[in-house]
Amino acid sequence: MTAITHTNRVLSGMQPTNTLHLGNYLGALKNWVAMQDRMECLYCVVDMHAITQDSGYGKRETLAASIREVAAAYIASGIDPKKSPVFNQSRVPEHAELAWVFSCVARLGWMDRMTQFKEKTGKHKERASVGLYTYPILMAADILIYQATHVPVGEDQRQHLELTRDIAQKFNNDFAAPGFFPLTEPVITGPATRVMSLRDGTKKMSKTDESDMSRINLTDDADTIASKIRKARTDPNPLPESAKGLEGRPEAENLINIYAALADEEAETVIRRFAGHQFSSFKSELAELAVAKLTPIAAEMRRLLADPAEIDRTLKDGALRARAIAAPIMDEVKRLVGFVG
Ligand code: TYM
Repeated sequence: MTAITHTNRVLSGMQPTNTLHLGNYLGALKNWVAMQDRMECLYCVVDMHAITQDSGYGKRETLAASIREVAAAYIASGIDPKKSPVFNQSRVPEHAELAWVFSCVARLGWMDRMTQFKEKTGKHKERASVGLYTYPILMAADILIYQATHVPVGEDQRQHLELTRDIAQKFNNDFAAPGFFPLTEPVITGPATRVMSLRDGTKKMSKTDESDMSRINLTDDADTIASKIRKARTDPNPLPESAKGLEGRPEAENLINIYAALADEEAETVIRRFAGHQFSSFKSELAELAVAKLTPIAAEMRRLLADPAEIDRTLKDGALRARAIAAPIMDEVKRLVGFVG
C-alpha cells in the first residue's frame, strides 16, 4: 500500500484556565496568526483539558467565561474565525472518541515518562485525576482527528508532540494503515518559545504562578504592563555586547527575547541596539513597546466580550466546520479498528 500524503493542516489550542499571558501570546498565538495565510488552520479552546485539574459546580461560570475569553483573545490577536474555525473542543465529540481509541494504543510506559504530569502533581500523584494523567492522549487526538501536519506551540509542549507522533506511528502499524495519521511536525519558532517569569528567570511564565507580578496578562492595562516591566527582576550589570554575554543571566535574556518577539526582530539585533545600556532605559523602551502591541488586543477583547452571544455563535459555527473534517476521519478510524455499524 502506498503511504498517504497529507495536505498541510494546522491545529493548535489553549486551555481556558485563568487569563492568557504574554508567554501564550509570543510562544504560540502570534505564530498562529502568521500561519493563517500559509495553510489551512483550526484553533480550538481545549475546555476538556481544563477540567483535568479544577472542575465542579462552583467552577461552571468561571469555565464558561474563560472559554469565551480565550476565544476572544484568539480573535483579538488576529485569528480570522471566518478563515480558521475557532471552536471549543467539547463541541466536537470526535476528539473524545479518538482519545479513547488512542488510550488503547498508547502504552503506560510512555505515559509514565510525561514530565508535565510529574511537575503538576509533585508529591500528590494519588490525588490527581486520571484525566490529568491521560491528558497528552487527548491532546494527540485533538491534533490527529484533523490529520494535522503542523502544530504551533511553545517549547513546553515538545514532549507531548513527540508522544503524538509515537501514537500516530503505532496506530498506523497496529491497524495496517501506513501513513493514515501524519507524523505531525511541532512548530516551535521565534525568539520567545519559552517566556520566563518576570520574578525569576529560571521559571516559566505561567497562568498558575501565585504572583501576578510574574506575568503580563493579555488583559492588563497600560499602567500595569509598565509597572510589571519596571519591577521585573534583573541583575546589576548593564546589557551585554553579544549573545554570549547573556549566559548565566536568565532575566536579561528573557527581557531581550520578549523585546525581540514583540518587535519582530532577531534577538541579536536587539542585543546590538541596547549593548551597554542600563536596564532602566531598556525597560522603559520595552514597556513602551509592550503597551503599544498588547493594549489594542485587550481593547478588542473587551469589545468582543461585551457580546457573549456573538462569541457563542462563532464557536458554534467553528465547531460545525471542524466536525465536517473530523467526522469522516473518525469513521475511517472505526472501520480500521473493526467497529461495524
Ligand atoms: P497551554 O494552555 O498551557 O498553553 C497554550 C500555548 O501557550 C504556550 N505557552 C508558552 N509559550 C512560551 N512561553 C511560555 N511561558 C508559555 N506558556 C505557555 C504553550 O506551549 C501552548 O502552545 N497542552 C496544551 C494545550 C493543548 C494543545 C492541544 C496544544 C491541548 N490540545 C493540541 C496544541 C495542540 C496546553 O496546556 O497549553
